[in-house]
Amino acid sequence: MALPVITIDGPAGAGKSTVAKKVAQELGLTYLDTGAMYRAVTLLALRRGVDVNDDAKMKELVRDIYLDLSGGRIYLNGEDVSEEIRRPEVSESVSLVARLGSVRERMTALQREIASRGGVVLDGRDVGSVVFPEADCKIFLTASVEERARRRYLELQNKGIAISFDEVKQNIVERDKIDSERDIAPLTIPEGAHIVDSTGLTIDEVVQEIVRKCRTD
Ligand code: DC
Repeated sequence: MALPVITIDGPAGAGKSTVAKKVAQELGLTYLDTGAMYRAVTLLALRRGVDVNDDAKMKELVRDIYLDLSGGRIYLNGEDVSEEIRRPEVSESVSLVARLGSVRERMTALQREIASRGGVVLDGRDVGSVVFPEADCKIFLTASVEERARRRYLELQNKGIAISFDEVKQNIVERDKIDSERDIAPLTIPEGAHIVDSTGLTIDEVVQEIVRKCRTD
């Protein structure tokens, strides 16, 4: 049997990346963080001073971009940017970048290429609805806004990034809105997806619930 493709979609801060990594580990699959790809594009635009609202300029920017996601890191044109893409400046602009058709088209193609042989757990906003609608197992992972903001806040605090809880929460609410209302590939519950609400659950409880739903053997 072909190696499976498992997709995990959901709003910002639902715990997708932590959970997806562990699910991949447990099932012996590779983890692909598609959000990191949109973040890397955003970082490059910010560095080069490209207006993220300018579709034509952004199209040019992604045409020659080289992204390598190996060993749990992300390399942008050869440089490891795994930490830098988590900075608040990137979080603030990434939803604007993710609205653009030119950027999405390129990232979707790259994601399909990387996951073409299967054996992958992908997380994102459209991986079960657009990138792999035929995935073997689809999850929509969510949690309350308060809980998602609290988790992101603690994560940023641990990294020594100075930001208030209210700012984090505001950023999450704004991102939810942009991600859900955009024209192309909006955040939505994919057809046939299992809905998992992680509010009040531990990471392990969420991982086990997903493994139970997706295990085929
Ligand atoms: O999961 P994250 O917070 O790292 O995602 C960053 C942004 O990228 C988020 O605002 C939505 C966007 N994104 C997307 O549009 N499609 C994906 N498959 C993954 C992320």
